[in-house]
Amino acid sequence: MEKSFLEKYPRTHHLNQLSEKDLGQTVNLMGWVATVRDHGGVLFVDLRDREGITQVVFNPEINPKVHDLAKHLRSEYCMGVRGKVVARPEGMANTNLLTGQIEVYVEDFEVFSRSKTPPFELEEDLKVSEELRLQYRYLDLRRPSLLNNFKLRHRVMQAARHYLSSQGFLEIETPILNKSTPEGARDYLVPSRVHPGHFFALPQSPQLFKQLLMVSGIERYFQIARCFRDEDLRADRQPEFTQIDLEMSFVTEQAIMDCMEGLIQALWKEALGLELKTPFPVLTYDEAMDRYGLDAPDLRFGLELQDLSSVFEKSSFKVFAAALEKKGMIKALKVPGGAKFSRKEIDDFTKFVSIYGAKGLAYIKVQGGEWQSPIVKFFSETEKTALQKELNLQEGDIVFFGADSKKIVNDALGNLREHLGAQLNLINEKQLAFVWVTDFPMFEYDEKEKRLFSVHHPFTAPKLSDLERLESEPEQVKTQAYDLVLNGHEIGGGSIRIHQAELQQRVLKLLNINQQEAKEKFGFLLEALQFGPPPHGGLAFGLDRLVMIMSGASSIRDVIAFPKTQKATCPLSETPSEVSATQLLELGLRLQKNN
Ligand code: AMO
Ligand code: AMP
Repeated sequence: MEKSFLEKYPRTHHLNQLSEKDLGQTVNLMGWVATVRDHGGVLFVDLRDREGITQVVFNPEINPKVHDLAKHLRSEYCMGVRGKVVARPEGMANTNLLTGQIEVYVEDFEVFSRSKTPPFELEEDLKVSEELRLQYRYLDLRRPSLLNNFKLRHRVMQAARHYLSSQGFLEIETPILNKSTPEGARDYLVPSRVHPGHFFALPQSPQLFKQLLMVSGIERYFQIARCFRDEDLRADRQPEFTQIDLEMSFVTEQAIMDCMEGLIQALWKEALGLELKTPFPVLTYDEAMDRYGLDAPDLRFGLELQDLSSVFEKSSFKVFAAALEKKGMIKALKVPGGAKFSRKEIDDFTKFVSIYGAKGLAYIKVQGGEWQSPIVKFFSETEKTALQKELNLQEGDIVFFGADSKKIVNDALGNLREHLGAQLNLINEKQLAFVWVTDFPMFEYDEKEKRLFSVHHPFTAPKLSDLERLESEPEQVKTQAYDLVLNGHEIGGGSIRIHQAELQQRVLKLLNINQQEAKEKFGFLLEALQFGPPPHGGLAFGLDRLVMIMSGASSIRDVIAFPKTQKATCPLSETPSEVSATQLLELGLRLQKNN
């Protein structure tokens, strides 16, 4: 029986490998047609595979029969070629290509499969909509820049496994068909056919199960875990994402943070060949909010916020006075050189902060030696002197003011700070600014619902020194929780957990979760805590966010092979989609008619 092309000519090289050292060799190459050019009858094809591009040449004078067949080649055909490596003629080398010194003269080839004309050209500088790219994701992924993200992602996952194994962590999988895990987002639900009217929830994280594994005595667990959260999407959020999730027994906060710095170092070293300096700087949550207004601050530039509440204690400017009266605050953001902002730019900033609830954006410009501002007329001489002392205003500065509740002021000015950092090019894109944010508050009071919520999750342990005021001043209680922030992105977060059933009950009570509800939601964890749980804690990194930053991608979607759109759909598989009446019936479900 005749042998197939692959049997006769098994692949000898990837398309990034050949160079002048291979001259004269006969090689077998496989890949896709990136481009076909016809130069006076000679066909030049850029053949592309996962690793690179090699130019293959069909010359009618050398092999007329092969050349004749090659005339039918088109972009994205998949093919194999056999041929000889020759040096490119004088002056024809391509220094942009690893293989640019050589080309391969084709002696035989086979088209494995033809391709329809792709819906977009597979160039790096794509101008088509992301929707179309996602609809034809398998073609989009042929682009080297995107492919490189997945090679990096692979290396990061391998490095994580390698490092964690070396530190005694066991890789263990936890269930996907699960019970709701309280991480603060909505659940994706899966109806049970066997138990009509009953549902599984897809895990928002493996939190409950990893704690159970500590009760089991696993001591150190990790998992590269898929998590599902039905929440509003942003550039660095997906409804389905991956965590490097881990948990450790018999450790302190500091021991976990040290171990995690080792992991991050290993990832950068093994996946990117870069040495990172540790320990990373640490900011308490209060310091981060005070200086940057956000709990995940970007430390690659300055522009720190300043609290001016004490300067304006007796202000006659009604906006400032009203904010302080309502136990709010007044903060300033000074921008050197900002006096040149136009009216329109300032209006745009005002619109920008309104997204965060700010009702205005007062400012002072220092121009021509004087303060230009719609509000200085309300300031007393004492206030002006104090302001100058606090802010050290110089010619060319602008200072923006926020006056409102603490939350609104920090949100508005914190985000404006990041916005200005980008707009004024204050960010060195090469810099890596890691920072631990620690000492998070335990609870957040929700004005609307008039009750406390967990800032992290209900299993996070309070600081031992705050135990006494758990009930009397819950909003003052700090936790043993920490986030790792990189360039303004929260890349990971975790905490020491409560391992005493009685303390867990006290916390649930404060969260207004009654025994019945607690039993239904995570009674199995509460029960497990009655069987000798070790002190334990852990953390989860957002793998997608990490790889996004490591690769320099601007969207989390560029490091996920088949991501969802901002509207949580998949244009490729057209999901979510309707299901058949039979399926619904089997599941005991009936859809509500839309009026
Ligand atoms: P947390 O909810 O902080 O903690 O999640 C940990 C990390 O996961 C990443 N992340 C996301 N990435 C992409 N899309 C999303 N929608 C998304 N949501 C979160 C972030 C975040 O820092 N069980 C705890 C961890 C623990 O306490 O050990 C947890 O899930 O980078
Ligand atoms: P008004 O007295 O409302 O005309 O506001 C005077 C100036 O204060 C304008 O520049 C507003 O943008 C600004 N301003 C109004 N409310 C606030 C606020 N809550 N925080 C900061 N500036 C404000």
